[in-house]
Amino acid sequence: MPNASWLALLEYARWAPSPHNMQPWLFQPLSDTECTLFYDPTRLLPGTNPTGSFMACGFGIMLECLDIAAAPRNQQVDVEFHTHELCSSDGAPVKYATLQLVPRTKPESLDRELILTRRTSRLPYDGRRISEKVYAELVAVAQAFGHQFEYSTDRAEVAWVVALNADTMFYDMSEPVACNEVAGWMRFSRKEARRKADGLAAYAMNANGLLMWLFAKANWLFRIPGIRQFTKAQYIKAMDGTRNVAWLSGPFFEKHDDWINSGRMLARLWLTMTKHGVYLHPFGSIITNAAAHAQMEEHFVNPNRKHPLWMLVRLGYSALPPKSYRLPMEHMLVQERVQS
Ligand SMILES: Cc1cc2nc3c(=O)[nH]c(=O)nc-3n(C[C@H](O)[C@H](O)[C@H](O)COP(=O)(O)O)c2cc1C
Repeated sequence: MPNASWLALLEYARWAPSPHNMQPWLFQPLSDTECTLFYDPTRLLPGTNPTGSFMACGFGIMLECLDIAAAPRNQQVDVEFHTHELCSSDGAPVKYATLQLVPRTKPESLDRELILTRRTSRLPYDGRRISEKVYAELVAVAQAFGHQFEYSTDRAEVAWVVALNADTMFYDMSEPVACNEVAGWMRFSRKEARRKADGLAAYAMNANGLLMWLFAKANWLFRIPGIRQFTKAQYIKAMDGTRNVAWLSGPFFEKHDDWINSGRMLARLWLTMTKHGVYLHPFGSIITNAAAHAQMEEHFVNPNRKHPLWMLVRLGYSALPPKSYRLPMEHMLVQERVQS
């Protein structure tokens, strides 16, 4: 019988963002204070992110959300990992970590309700700059985790980032490995998105379902000169009003613990934005695409930066974005079928 105290916390953690909304986590509450965390090896990105860095980052986000959710009870979630690798397979869930609910020793400044209101916004933004006061808070959040948050409101810089994201998307989708992997997580209709309750839904991507289907299944069409330029311009236009872009650097590329730490930081950064009514749109594919990543490193030169860049985003103010679905709680609870 699933433990009620964990279920109440998981109701928050399940709304954590994950790459392509893949929600690779599963839980097995064992007692009031102990829960086993599993990863689902069928919900990883072996083609576009073979190191597993981005999915581990997603786990870091989810674990931080769980910890924030436990704060009002004066508890925190301690984590002991059983493996530092996320290995893709079509097998059963794999034991990833043991979670312990223990008395809280650190203060919590973020309201856990922010976890439920946070969303990715791929809508047009309203052209407003984010204030220096809010930026200072975001810089401090990153710094607390040993990361650096840099930003720009320069129009040319913003246009460069938006164009790089569009180029990367068009390139990735013309390349079989990335296209097949991403296409498998695309949900073309509202009905499919609701039924599968995961993935990148056209309505959440601010995209037309039929166009998205053609883009994934008949990508050759979008390599025809004219059609390519037109659709890319439309894609860029859908990001009208973007006035703020930001990039993160920090220890990320080598160790599992760094990826988890980066995810924890990203969770707090994103929730801090939510607190200020600021939306975020991560451009993760610029990082997973080696050529785009190299261009980004070359473009954002800063001699004072100590670590590699690992995330590029646009951020700002938009209308309320549509909410992505999440898998039902029953799906996230492990009963049997477990690999130790
Ligand atoms: C590490 C990471 C990378 C992401 N990269 C992208 C990206 O490249 N493009 C994008 O549109 N969304 C990206 N997202 C956003 C997710 O797709 C989004 O969080 C997920 O679909 C759930 O939607 P929600 O944030 O509105 O709840 C990323 C999220 C995470 C955690």
